[in-house]
Amino acid sequence: MFYDVRKNDHGLPHDPFKAIVAPRPIGWITSMSTAGEINLAPYSWFNGVSSRPPMVMFSSETRKDSLAFIEETREFVCNFTTWDLREQVNQTSAPLARGVNEMARAGLEPAPSRLVRPPRVAASPCALECLWVKTVSLDDCEGRPTDRHVVFGQVIGIYIDERFIKDGLLDTGAMRPIQRAGYNDYYTVVSETRFAMKRPPGG
Ligand SMILES: Cc1cc2nc3c(=O)[nH]c(=O)nc-3n(C[C@H](O)[C@H](O)[C@H](O)COP(=O)(O)O)c2cc1C
Repeated sequence: MFYDVRKNDHGLPHDPFKAIVAPRPIGWITSMSTAGEINLAPYSWFNGVSSRPPMVMFSSETRKDSLAFIEETREFVCNFTTWDLREQVNQTSAPLARGVNEMARAGLEPAPSRLVRPPRVAASPCALECLWVKTVSLDDCEGRPTDRHVVFGQVIGIYIDERFIKDGLLDTGAMRPIQRAGYNDYYTVVSETRFAMKRPPGG
């Protein structure tokens, strides 16, 4: 099949786009307002965009609290989402009023970050402490505003639960990450499915 997105004539019960750009890692983002309020929410339009310096991005579809808090205090933390934390990840996506602490609501313990003020989720095995770099508010190809805002951050500190370091390498599969697919679907990784491929010389 083929469909023209501008006509949206896929004929399927649900839009398949997010099931194609999948599985997506989830940035579970902690941020803080100038008043010290804490916010936690999952974002799957999220990824790393640079290794040196390490940089990440996430996209806020409309202007949400995470974006507002990050632009106020210019710091955030991306917590790693796991199978064990799946219920809390989902719970923290509830549209609560600004200033309601989703971390506390989901029964999650905060742990202090080292280099930024927003705390990390203590039970998450990895956390990226970030400084805000810029927000790019996207216009579409016709130049019309979309109300989609991509936040870029530079990672300045990384927390890793050492239980998942084996022979000097971080064992991603052992942390049982959950990733987002389309519809209400998620993927989880089973470490046995991991395989390695060396890049071609110079690649
Ligand atoms: C797994 C998951 C991934 C999500 N990814 C995004 C995303 O990439 N962008 C977005 O705008 N909302 C996303 N959402 C919805 C937000 O988490 C939700 O709107 C939340 O209330 C935003 O919180 P905030 O206003 O406290 O930032 C996602 C929800 C879930 C459960």
